[in-house]
Amino acid sequence: MRGSPSGHVGLPVLFRKQPFRESNLAACRPPRRARPHSTRPRIALLLSHRIDPEVPLADQVSELKALQEGGKTAHVGLSEVSVDQIEQARAIAPIASVHNLYNLANRTAENVLDYCERHHVAFIPWFPLATGGLAKPGGPIEAVASRLSASPSQLMLAWLLHRSPVVLPIPGTSSVEHLEQNVAVAGLQLTEEDVAELT
Ligand SMILES: NC(=O)c1ccc[n+]([C@@H]2O[C@H](COP(=O)([O-])OP(=O)(O)OC[C@H]3O[C@@H](n4cnc5c(N)ncnc54)[C@H](OP(=O)(O)O)[C@@H]3O)[C@@H](O)[C@H]2O)c1
Repeated sequence: MRGSPSGHVGLPVLFRKQPFRESNLAACRPPRRARPHSTRPRIALLLSHRIDPEVPLADQVSELKALQEGGKTAHVGLSEVSVDQIEQARAIAPIASVHNLYNLANRTAENVLDYCERHHVAFIPWFPLATGGLAKPGGPIEAVASRLSASPSQLMLAWLLHRSPVVLPIPGTSSVEHLEQNVAVAGLQLTEEDVAELT
């Protein structure tokens, strides 16, 4: 699941403005001259930032589907949705990814992640590095991280990657050093004992 199913490479694009209007998507579009002769999709994955409660979900997903069918985006996804909303959306359009709050300290989206795993939908946890009280000195993160010679942030990312093959964490950072540490997590394997200690 990690890596684009179609071979497209790129970060997800979110549109955030509400209420939902087709015109809100204009910000996501590159200038027309960017690819004058290309018929390839311009966006790899377009994520709706929130379901607008004042607009029928079906209308919103139909707009995403129209953008996909019109070649504006290769894939579409949803953010902060329930299992019921994902099922409604999937009846209208193929949903490639779901982007909900989820991390070691906040697992309220566990049922959504389980659903995504069952249906091969990529799950992109936002706020992947939030720790709550777990990172306090002497806490479980410190103990396991020190055993693995990893930083607490690396451990949290490794835990997410271990959780499910559909999980695709995208940690935010302004530091090249942190970026390199985060990339190195791909080589960090947790044992079931490590995981049990963090659960
Ligand atoms: N869909 C939504 O509703 C939603 C909402 C919020 C966020 N998001 C998305 O979620 C992603 C992550 O969000 P986020 O950046 O707010 O939270 P985050 O990734 O959980 O945390 C980012 C923080 O962690 C620090 N950090 C990163 N790597 C580190 C490392 N190796 N060691 C120590 N600290 C490290 C960063 O500081 P440094 O800069 O110092 O590294 C930054 O302060 C983004 O792609 C964002 O767009 C989506």
